Amino acid sequence: MSNRKNGQWRLKTRPVGMVKTTDFEFVTEPVPDLKANEFLVRNLYFSFEPAMRGWLNDVESYVPPVQVNEVMRAFTVGQVIESDSADFSPGDFVQGMLGWQEYVTCGGPPGVSKLSEGIPPHLALSVLGGTGLTAYFGLLDIGKPKQGDVVVVSGAAGATGSVAGQIAKIKGASKVVGIAGGAEKCVWLTDELGFDAAIDYKTENVEDRLATLCPEGINIFFDNVGGSILDDALTNMAMHGRVVLCGAISGYNDEDLPPGPKNYTQLIVQRGRMEGFIVFDYMHKASEAMQDLSAWLSEGRIKHTEDIQEGIENAPVTFLRLFQGKNKGKQLLKIADAPI
Ligand SMILES: NC(=O)c1ccc[n+]([C@@H]2O[C@H](COP(=O)([O-])OP(=O)(O)OC[C@H]3O[C@@H](n4cnc5c(N)ncnc54)[C@H](OP(=O)(O)O)[C@@H]3O)[C@@H](O)[C@H]2O)c1
Repeated sequence: MSNRKNGQWRLKTRPVGMVKTTDFEFVTEPVPDLKANEFLVRNLYFSFEPAMRGWLNDVESYVPPVQVNEVMRAFTVGQVIESDSADFSPGDFVQGMLGWQEYVTCGGPPGVSKLSEGIPPHLALSVLGGTGLTAYFGLLDIGKPKQGDVVVVSGAAGATGSVAGQIAKIKGASKVVGIAGGAEKCVWLTDELGFDAAIDYKTENVEDRLATLCPEGINIFFDNVGGSILDDALTNMAMHGRVVLCGAISGYNDEDLPPGPKNYTQLIVQRGRMEGFIVFDYMHKASEAMQDLSAWLSEGRIKHTEDIQEGIENAPVTFLRLFQGKNKGKQLLKIADAPI
């Protein structure tokens, strides 16, 4: 047995309503010796997604629920520090669903894969990872943008929304409007990311502002939020408009199902479409998206930001930041510097 100790955050109790830091418990256990063909990863960054809240409910979804006493599931990037595998060597950067823990013993794919050459770990968890892919395929495959479209994005200053809005501009949108919480985020969207307008849903009437900003209607609504903001957008859809159901964070901590969108009949009147998607279904096409996203990044056509907190002790607090609107861009937690 090695002398290494593995700090881990486990699910202690299933949250009821808003998730709390006390729903998780920090435990330490020895790191076991490697068996044949295994390798040991030291986690460097944890990625935080609002969907992780849904994984804590005891309901079947597109992934099974996290079990009580199980290490909290999360995407991470780490570095191989010991190896008995022919395919993974010390120093390799890897990514996978490796959870809120410092060390993890791996047996190889499908649970873990090497990072593409030259991609910094924090980008592999944000714009050049699942976040970028979600924005890319949600907007392009579900939204099907056309030249001159008016595009509205909710959760626009978050990880996915900020990228989706910029891709809409690249694809020829005539106007991109972001909806976000707070003046500072709204200024960031218009002054730095190139959105044409932003609505602060905390202080403004979203339905009225959308009507003013999009007098011909919304062609694509990329929704990360759901709830009343979805209703406000539905009221303002253009003929043959598309609603991309990416997420619905406004209801993730609700104890009861939120009331359905009351303005959905606008989709009948406007011959519109509302469609959900899960990014996992697009993994076979990830390299195509990565080529575009990498090119747009290096050309400066997509700007990104990561909100990087530090220290494994802060994992639950960092998770809660998503639901408090404290993050701008992608929420990450740095656990360690690359040890090798
Ligand atoms: N379909 C898929 O495959 C897929 C994949 C990844 C993510 N998603 C979804 O995409 C959405 C965005 O995820 P992300 O990782 O990019 O997170 P994010 O947008 O970076 O972070 C969450 C943001 O949501 C906003 N928010 C929190 N509570 C809210 C509320 N009650 N009402 C309105 N806004 C609220 C906050 O911004 P404000 O300050 O603006 O309130 C917060 O910063 C989520 O709904 C997530 O579930 C879907």
